[in-house]
Formats: sequence, structure tokens, C-alpha cells
Amino acid sequence: MTGLDSRNALLAALNRPSSRSNPYPLLSRLREASPATVGPDGTMLLVARHHDCGRLLRDPAMSSDYRRAPTLSSVPHTRMFVTLDPPDHTRLRRLVSKAFTPRAAAALEPRIRAIVAELLSAADPNRFDVVTGLAYPLPLQIICEMLGVPRRDLGLFADWSDRLTQSLDALMFRGDLADRDRAQCEFAAYFAQLIEYRRGRDDDDLLSRLIRVEENGDRLTHEELVSTLTLLLTAGHETIANLIGNTLLALLRHPDQFAALRAEPALAAGAVEEALRYDPPVQLVARTARGGYRMGDLDLPDRTLVLVLLGAAGRDPDAFPEPDRYDIKRRSGAHLAFSAGPHFCLGAGLARLQSTVVFEAMATRLVDPELVEVVHRPNVVMRGPSRLVIRAAGITC
Ligand code: HEM
Repeated sequence: MTGLDSRNALLAALNRPSSRSNPYPLLSRLREASPATVGPDGTMLLVARHHDCGRLLRDPAMSSDYRRAPTLSSVPHTRMFVTLDPPDHTRLRRLVSKAFTPRAAAALEPRIRAIVAELLSAADPNRFDVVTGLAYPLPLQIICEMLGVPRRDLGLFADWSDRLTQSLDALMFRGDLADRDRAQCEFAAYFAQLIEYRRGRDDDDLLSRLIRVEENGDRLTHEELVSTLTLLLTAGHETIANLIGNTLLALLRHPDQFAALRAEPALAAGAVEEALRYDPPVQLVARTARGGYRMGDLDLPDRTLVLVLLGAAGRDPDAFPEPDRYDIKRRSGAHLAFSAGPHFCLGAGLARLQSTVVFEAMATRLVDPELVEVVHRPNVVMRGPSRLVIRAAGITC
């Protein structure tokens, strides 16, 4: 037991203002107690040690279908393939993965560089909210361009994406999902129209390619197409915004590391990789146990909900020496920020690329940046700042 007698107590502990600004002391206590059940009925298991998390995420005996968990089964949600098991998961992932090869990501690089340069040039060095001015618009613009969404509709997407990602807490902790359902309906109606408009055209964006799969092989139903688009939007936007925010905050709070990056902008990839370990944008993922699963001396009944605490795993001293130190020269590649196993993040390359381009540009263009204000989002599953204001002596061209 964790000393937390219910799921609500766990959510309340994670949601306290002190945990919101720094959840790691609490996560460290949860890791020491892990694996541990939550609540008197033991229907939820917390797993937080790096080794256990990695093993569990790769284990085919764990299901990603949350609807199997009795406590969540009444919750309707679309069949995004991140919540499916083989064979449906394998089929849908294969179709989409063609758009996320290293080559496809590299082809986007000039566009990413151009958007970053434009957003930095437009920023006011005296008061620059990096979230609204860069971290948020960059990935939104990229994912919308990949999907072929008209630029004038970006605002709609920002709103749906916010509402869908905020609902992740409600899903895990049994909150109100009415707004998530409304956002999903609005999103589905929008895409139904866009799909009709695009049908039969020979465009080369991701949406048009997925439509052709649907038309040709009948291997992607309309519902699957819409839920895949919803997944790509939510997975590909706020996560990167949070990664940019979390990386910048870590750098600002470790001036020696920022100085090292400025001296050697090629360390940008290392700064991002270390932030993925140190303060990951996705703090937890869920699985359900299939019958007779054993972890330590715990026997998990079929359908037990398992929360895998990725944020806690990244600070595990058994996996990372001095885990609370942010060190951009550390080789922290073994972190689990992108999960592991069959659901390993499809957009990891794209996320790394966008964030690395941002920090290369910041290293060369921001002169003496200082932190003015940071406010974290009131979310537990997705972690990142909603406001991150800096002041710089200048932003060079
Ligand atoms: C910093 C940025 C990102 C982080 C931290 C992140 C994190 C994750 C994590 C933890 C999972 C696994 C969920 C699970 O195991 O249940 C995942 C899956 C996924 N991510 Fe990402 N992600 C990021 C960016 C992206 C981007 C840019 C895209 C695409 C545009 C993307 C697309 C996906 C997809 C499609 C899946 C589902 C994979 C599957 O179920 O097979 N992600 N991501």
C-alpha cells in the first residue's frame, strides 16, 4: 500500500500546488513503495521503478485497452490505436508509421527551422511568453501542415487539443468527461467535412494518404480514420509544447547548463534528451493486467488498472546516477518518456527534431535570458507550463 487509500487521494496528492510545481519528491516516495496497490479493493496498481516500468511496458500480458478495466469500462471513447491491442493496434500503427520514418521527419526540418526563426523574430525580448509565442504554435502548425489542415482553422485545433488532453486526468481518475466527448464530436464533424472535401484529390499530405488507404483496401474504416486523426493531433501537439517548456525551464534553473549550451549549440539534442528524463511531458500511461499477472509478491486480478509512472522512473537512482541533477551531457537515452514496447511513441523522432531546432536557435539567438514567471498546467498526466515568461537582453537575428 502507498498510504493513499483511494484513487481520489492519489489524484489530490499529485494535484496539490506544491506537487504541480515539483511532483518529484512525491513521486520518489511512490517509487520507493512501488509496486503498490491503491485503495482498499486493490483495483489499481502503481508501478514506478525504472526496471519494472520498462519490463511491464514491453510485456504482451499487459493490455492497452483501458475499457477492460471495470472502473473505466463505462467510459466511452474512440478507438485511438494507442488504446488498442494486437491485431488492430498492429494494423493501424503500420498504416500510420509510414508517415513517421526518419526520412519523413527530416524532410520537415527546413519548415521547422523557418517557423522557429519567424516566431523568435516576432518575440519581444522584454517580455516573451515562450509557451504562447513559440512552444505552442510551432508543433500545432507542423501537425496541421502534415495533416493538410487549412491555416485559418489552427485556432479550432488548439481548442480541441486543449480539451482532449485535459480530459486525460478525468479518464484516469474518473472525472467528468462531458467536455471531452463534446470536443471529440466537434473534431469528428470537422474531419468528416474535410475528408469529403479531400476525397478523390491527389494531394500528398498525411490525411489524403490515409483517405486513399480507406478507399483502396477497406482496411481503415471512417471511424478509425477519424480516431487516428484525433490521436495524431493530441499526441503531436501539447506533448512537444510541454517538452519545449520543460526543457527551457530546466535550463533557466541550471544556468551552468544553459551556459554550456550557449558555448556549444550542438548540445541542444542532449539538453532535450535530458529534459525528457528529468521532467517528462507525459507523466504516466495506463495498462490493464491480463489474468494471473504477478509483480513482485503481488498477484494482479484480471483487468487490474496499472498506472506506469514514467516521471518517477526517470528519477530512479538505480537507473540514473544523481537523478535529480539536470546534466545536458548525460547519456540519458534509456529514459521511458516515449514509453517502450509495441506502443513506443511514433512521433519521437519528430518531437526530438522540433525541440532540438528550438534549442539550437535559442542557444544562438537569446542573449542572457532570465526567468520572469512560470505557471504549470493543472494537469497530472500531461506536465508542462501554461505560462513561461522570460526576459532577455536581446534576441539576435
Ligand atoms: C515530446 C513529445 C512526445 C512525448 C513525450 C510522447 C509520448 C508518448 C508516449 C508516452 C506514448 C505511449 C503511450 C502508451 O504507451 O500507452 C506515445 C504514443 C504515441 N505518440 Fe507520442 N509523444 C510525443 C510526441 C508525439 C508526436 C509529435 C506524435 C505525432 C505527431 C506522436 C504520436 C504518437 C502516437 C501515434 C502514439 C501511439 C503509438 C502506439 O500506440 O502504437 N507523439 N507518445
